[in-house]
Amino acid sequence: MEDNIIIEELKYLAEKIEYHDKLYYMDDAPAISDAEYDKLRERNLDLEKKYPHLIRENSPSKRVGSKILSKFKKVDHLVPMLSLGNTFSKNEVQDFIGKIRRFLKIDNDYLLEFIAEPKIDGLSATLIYENGRLLLGATRGDGKQGENITENIKTIGSIPKSLKGNFPSKLEIRGEIFMTNSEFELLNKMRNKESLPSFSNPRNAAAGSVRQLDSTITSSRNLDFFAYGWGQLSSNIGNNLLEIRKNIKSYGFKLNEPYSLCNNIDDMLSFYDNIYKIRPNLDFDIDGIVYKLNNIDFYEKLGSTDHSPRYAVSHKFPAEKGVSVLKNVSFQVGRTGAITPVAEINPVTIGGVRISRASLHNKDEIERLGINIGDTVSVQRAGDVIPQITNYIKNLRPKNSTKIVFPEFCPGCNSKLYRDQTEAIIRCQNFDNCEDQIKGQLIHFVSRNAFNIDGLGEKQISELYNLDIIKKPSDIFLLSEQSSQHQWDRILTLPGWGKLSLSNLLKAINISKNQPFDKVLYSLGIRHLGQGTSKLIVKNFKDYKSFVYTINNLNENLNKDIFIEDLKSINGIGEKVIFSLIDYFDKCKEDFNSLVSYLNIENPTQSLNNNFFSGKRIVFTGKFNNFSRNAIKNKAETLGAIISSQVSAKTDYLVVGLEPGSKLKKAESFSTKIINEDEFLNYLE
Ligand code: IVH
Repeated sequence: MEDNIIIEELKYLAEKIEYHDKLYYMDDAPAISDAEYDKLRERNLDLEKKYPHLIRENSPSKRVGSKILSKFKKVDHLVPMLSLGNTFSKNEVQDFIGKIRRFLKIDNDYLLEFIAEPKIDGLSATLIYENGRLLLGATRGDGKQGENITENIKTIGSIPKSLKGNFPSKLEIRGEIFMTNSEFELLNKMRNKESLPSFSNPRNAAAGSVRQLDSTITSSRNLDFFAYGWGQLSSNIGNNLLEIRKNIKSYGFKLNEPYSLCNNIDDMLSFYDNIYKIRPNLDFDIDGIVYKLNNIDFYEKLGSTDHSPRYAVSHKFPAEKGVSVLKNVSFQVGRTGAITPVAEINPVTIGGVRISRASLHNKDEIERLGINIGDTVSVQRAGDVIPQITNYIKNLRPKNSTKIVFPEFCPGCNSKLYRDQTEAIIRCQNFDNCEDQIKGQLIHFVSRNAFNIDGLGEKQISELYNLDIIKKPSDIFLLSEQSSQHQWDRILTLPGWGKLSLSNLLKAINISKNQPFDKVLYSLGIRHLGQGTSKLIVKNFKDYKSFVYTINNLNENLNKDIFIEDLKSINGIGEKVIFSLIDYFDKCKEDFNSLVSYLNIENPTQSLNNNFFSGKRIVFTGKFNNFSRNAIKNKAETLGAIISSQVSAKTDYLVVGLEPGSKLKKAESFSTKIINEDEFLNYLE
């Protein structure tokens, strides 16, 4: 590959890693999962290995973690604070051991002992003691220089201020500051009460608490500390790691427990498996296991790479999976009456996100999984998808576990539930009166892919529904009329509402009155009618008025038959959709007519022909200055473009915003035309 392409990618990776380092280390607000972050670093390392002459002067591989925050004084680490290399599989652990043997030139018969211990997900700190008294505490920073956080460190109960036993006069202890899960839950509960934003996980809460200029705040956060290593020493603290662990404990520190002395890879992997199983029962988050050579005489000989020693490695747990305990199952009523069982689990951090609920889909899924309340369950999360329970751990089932009982009556309106034999879903059929369903329909109506009304989400819909202000979609637009002044006054009495938020909402409602017709149809929440089907149906009518006319005259049998036949002839429209549509308009014609009377409906068919975008296949990537990604897609779609999510040989244009993803590379390989946001806007005009 050409050098300049690699140079570009290395630059891109360096910027991206620096950006995420800042979010993680300085703002305590990571935007991507650890696994995604690791991938960026790995790609950077791969490229640097293949193209060593292109390594950037300040490459991310040359530094560990963050730049220094300026609010604390700097501290030089006389012994650098390194990080650990990661392994993810048995093979990689095997490679780690193999490398040690090669480096030390020892064969397979030579017994290598390893200490295995949990890897705590917190932030590393170093503590310097002189004559047994705590002199200084510092963060890792960039590995060479950290921040002096002595005052804050002194507030942590499990960090001894003076040492016990027989310690060297100069002693530097390293370890991890963290927050227990129970402390984290308490802290967020208190913050909620005070309307302060929640921390997203215990690691961020710990990091945020340590970097307080006011140490009384740190003190109130009840942080904890496990010691796992050492820096400078005036004399030996043991002949091997096992002894050193014992000694560090005797000085008054807590250690990463449980631990195990392993004689071979099988011991190491079985410790890994055991800890993975008991992970949900621990009161602190761990993200893997660390294996360290017990024989410390080898450490110096083995040395380190730029950022990690060769004597130790971490074996990470699968990033997007977690284990928790199923506490309860609640049953939610969806907008079409579908009853969805929702698993309530002990909160667990998966890929940097705190998860306390997961979907169980339906009754069949519960039976397939065979889970009970009280079971230890595996939870999986992929991207933005709702977390799911994938299985339970059979030998950890407690004696008092209880069966999940699916309700017979709707938890919202108490009417009898039914299961249509053609589907797996159990429904509440009180479509017209079940409050949960009506609210669900309204939430769908204002959602992003529908009317997309800013400032009108689940919470606000629920509030305005309870005040009898919004009971059906047309009420939303009625609210924006001058005649609704008295309703505005009522809204202003609600907590959290002010003149500004109300006026912004009314503006957003007014803007949303302009909609392409297929969007209006989709927003109604008619069963089986997705975005694609709505488009297909709309295309079959000359304009929206002719659709409205047809709908209003459907009662005459002949018209109904023609309507059905017409729609049936469209590829992709089946009877289910058609009857659902007819059913809806049978019941809701009046509501529909009143809704359209407020709207300014665009006929998509009119704008489809003869403009730059009609029929073009377009993909978008990155962030845009003037539009949200959805808005820019909608715009192009209204003009007749075909929007795809992936670049292929058929793609006509890739529109590139800030921080584009891998789609850019792919488009280059297909020689797709690439345009930026400004060019896109020019074409729009
Ligand atoms: S040993 C040379 N042991 O994980 C560094 N580190 O990803 C030796 N960590 O920087 C570190 N638990 O902050 C070690 N039991 C453990 C650990 C542990 C958590 C942290 C530590 C390290 C990071 C590497």
